[in-house]
Amino acid sequence: MNAVLPQPVIEDAAAPLNVARITLAHFRNYDELRLECGAAPVVLTGMNGSGKTNLLEAISLLVPGHGLRRAALGDLQNHKKKESWAVAVELRTEMGPLTIGTGRDAEAASDDGERRVVHIGGKVPRGQSALAEHVAMAWITPDMDRLLAEGASARRKFLDRLVYSFDPAHGARVQRYEKAMRERLRLLRDGVADAAWLSALEDEMAQTAVAIAAARRHMIQHLRSSIAEGGDAFPRADIEVRGTAEDMLADLPALPVEDALRAAFARARGEDAQSGTCAVGAHRSDLRVTHRAKQCPADLCSTGEQKALLIALMLAYVRLLARQRRMTPLFLLDDIAAHLDEYRRVALFEEIASLGIQAWLTGTERESFNGLEARFFTLENGKIV
Ligand SMILES: Nc1ncnc2c1ncn2[C@@H]1O[C@H](COP(=O)(O)OP(=O)(O)OP(=O)(O)O)[C@@H](O)[C@H]1O
Ligand SMILES: [Mg+2]
Repeated sequence: MNAVLPQPVIEDAAAPLNVARITLAHFRNYDELRLECGAAPVVLTGMNGSGKTNLLEAISLLVPGHGLRRAALGDLQNHKKKESWAVAVELRTEMGPLTIGTGRDAEAASDDGERRVVHIGGKVPRGQSALAEHVAMAWITPDMDRLLAEGASARRKFLDRLVYSFDPAHGARVQRYEKAMRERLRLLRDGVADAAWLSALEDEMAQTAVAIAAARRHMIQHLRSSIAEGGDAFPRADIEVRGTAEDMLADLPALPVEDALRAAFARARGEDAQSGTCAVGAHRSDLRVTHRAKQCPADLCSTGEQKALLIALMLAYVRLLARQRRMTPLFLLDDIAAHLDEYRRVALFEEIASLGIQAWLTGTERESFNGLEARFFTLENGKIV
């Protein structure tokens, strides 16, 4: 007979990436906060305005960018305090413990606006983008509720953000593309008829656009296979990325697509000079999502269906990161449980448990998290009670 032996509990032994401790100073509505966690998911409850989203926002600054609210740096400063804000996190990673700190750079703040400094393991990296080499993260916030219903721009940025954690070089690609595009528009607007200069910029745009489009398509392919592995609690999404370069890459290798883009940019010079925007390019693409069972484009789905599709998409992404990257992701879920029926809530909690990731969840009611193995904290006015 096969006896089922109890598994020994080894605290945090091969635990995937997790925040072991986080300290905040003068961040948003916090004065000083220190939170000791384990590898388990963390649930933050508390009344409206107690600081739940602010705490997730602090964690979201462990990846490059402006965090889950896309806030201006000045807004992160506790406006009742003079001392600069700072966030420090002690991580347990597969490679061992690592401390990451970020905060307001008081010196830079005085002259050329705000800047955030980053420390990784006590060293100052060349740029924020180094964070992506140490931490992968995904989040769902109430702000994203309209993502599937509204314009292409937000969805494209969303898709690019997914690529950042998957392929850390993507951020630099997008920056290079946008810089060349801005420069080209400036020349066209100012009537600088320097054909060689314009061609050089269009060449840079064509090359980076193809690299961006290829990375997006690659992401979509991986996401599709991860979606196929999801359970039945959340609806399955059919996803595709559509855009000039993406569409051409479906049939052609990269070089002819680059040539076609270069030609399209050159043709559009007159029109772009008039409109002040670029008519074609990687900045026009869209992530299209369809509810598979209903064969319904996501923007026509109900609010609840859209939310469920979004969660399904993010779960697929988190599954993918947990499997593909050398590091598992942190998963931030702001204000999510209250909007799910019990069946879906349980499915979500089971998925979090089975992936073994450290998810951070917030809500006003503790009962919404019944059944989730987690560490619970209650917040009140920026303090743990
Ligand atoms: N820069 C700042 N300085 C001081 N307080 C701030 C700052 N920015 C935001 N706050 C305060 O933080 C509080 C909001 O915190 P947060 O959004 O984290 O609340 P929450 O717990 O997520 O609430 P809800 O349940 O409504 O989502 C508000 O009271 C707001 O006034
Ligand atoms: Mg909130």
